[in-house]
Amino acid sequence: MDRNTVEPQVETVPGQRAKRWAEYHHQFAAPSTYVYEFVWDTSADAIGPFCTDVDGNVLLDFTSHVAAAPLGYNNPHLREKLEAFDLVDPSKIAGQDFYVSNGGSPTDTDLPGPSQLMDRLLETVGQYDMDRVFLSNSGAEAVENAIKICYAGGGHRAFTFDGAFHGRTLGALSLNRSKAVHRTGFPEVPGVVALPYPSTDEEYETNWRTDGPGGNVLADKLHPERGVIDPDEVAYVILEPIQGEGGYRPAHPAFARDLEALRHRYDLRVVADEIQSGIGRTGELWAVDHLELTPDVITSAKGLRVGATISRSDVFPEEESRISSTWGAGDIVGALQGALTLEVLQETDVLSNVRDRGEDLRARLEDEVDVRPELLEVRGRGLMLAVEFDTKARRDDVLEAAFRRGLLTLGCGYKTLRLLPPLDVTAREVDLGMELLCEAIDEVTSTA
Ligand SMILES: Cc1ncc(COP(=O)(O)O)c(C=O)c1O
Repeated sequence: MDRNTVEPQVETVPGQRAKRWAEYHHQFAAPSTYVYEFVWDTSADAIGPFCTDVDGNVLLDFTSHVAAAPLGYNNPHLREKLEAFDLVDPSKIAGQDFYVSNGGSPTDTDLPGPSQLMDRLLETVGQYDMDRVFLSNSGAEAVENAIKICYAGGGHRAFTFDGAFHGRTLGALSLNRSKAVHRTGFPEVPGVVALPYPSTDEEYETNWRTDGPGGNVLADKLHPERGVIDPDEVAYVILEPIQGEGGYRPAHPAFARDLEALRHRYDLRVVADEIQSGIGRTGELWAVDHLELTPDVITSAKGLRVGATISRSDVFPEEESRISSTWGAGDIVGALQGALTLEVLQETDVLSNVRDRGEDLRARLEDEVDVRPELLEVRGRGLMLAVEFDTKARRDDVLEAAFRRGLLTLGCGYKTLRLLPPLDVTAREVDLGMELLCEAIDEVTSTA
């Protein structure tokens, strides 16, 4: 498959084999978040955003496995190192909460493991004085450990935001405010208060600007005389710099500045959940880098392939065994892949590609919003972009029609369609994606 010339080619999706694989899967799998019957054939050709499904259809993947494959399929840099890794000895893939080496010197190794992954991660957060990482297996665990270390530092109250999504373990889901299905009926960590999340100017003016009609909601709650929460009781404020599940809503920059001021005034700990928005997705390594806000803790996963809770030594508890995991660092292959992904982001111009291609894709989507009444607005940053439809049914139909044409996309929020091409997406691939998306919208709107 030549990345420079390959084009999506679809006979029928889902084809007979895909249906058979999905059917087989569902004989055993508990109901979860299955999107549609895209069954990737790992033994067939794939490169960048192009992959082959089990029926031989060639698809253009603008989901990057929900941001978990930031460099797309078969990135040559990752591929070369992963192939060099000898997985024959099973002891190499067990017991990750210990030290791992591959011989030689830890600071000069070709095959980075969990320690080198942490070293590289800390290079990306020097501006926040962060110097420690705790590795785990998933995003939810990264969040779970983030809030644990904050609770360990004191306080039993916490702030989250309307529209938030932080994972599905009991601690993390207590912070969710995007969909009832995540939380209904499950016991929750007590003391979590949800605040409005300002993304638009209007939302900022209404609830966050100190002299706006509603005042600054957080300042009011913490106010020494009028407030209802003692700032000393607050363990953390957790936010996504760009809300993912909640509909690709970026935090308003003035809100971030105000939050920073309150962080200083009351010595609050701010947790930036970068599980979807981090690892270069927005054109900076971390989405919070775009804001005038200093995170005390950053959570990462997905594109990193393992979970990571990143912070300062003074935030992590000192006692041993306070946090731990048998499978900390996921597995060695995951840690290797995460470290190599960071290597590509730090040592090539892929971040500027995210900015350039992101602006291009955004402008193209905005042009469509201008001429199509069914499209309401474009949101997001870099290559974390979404377009909001007038109805949920239309969004769902477009997603389906795009799939039938060979373009993989995802929903988020209530009636929003999100696009997450690989970070090294090319101009030609953006053209192809836009062509298929527009054809899908044409089909859906002409049928309607
Ligand atoms: C912002 C955010 N936080 C946490 C999570 C949970 O990550 P995981 O599914 O790896 O547990 C997600 C997953 O989509 C996410 O987008």
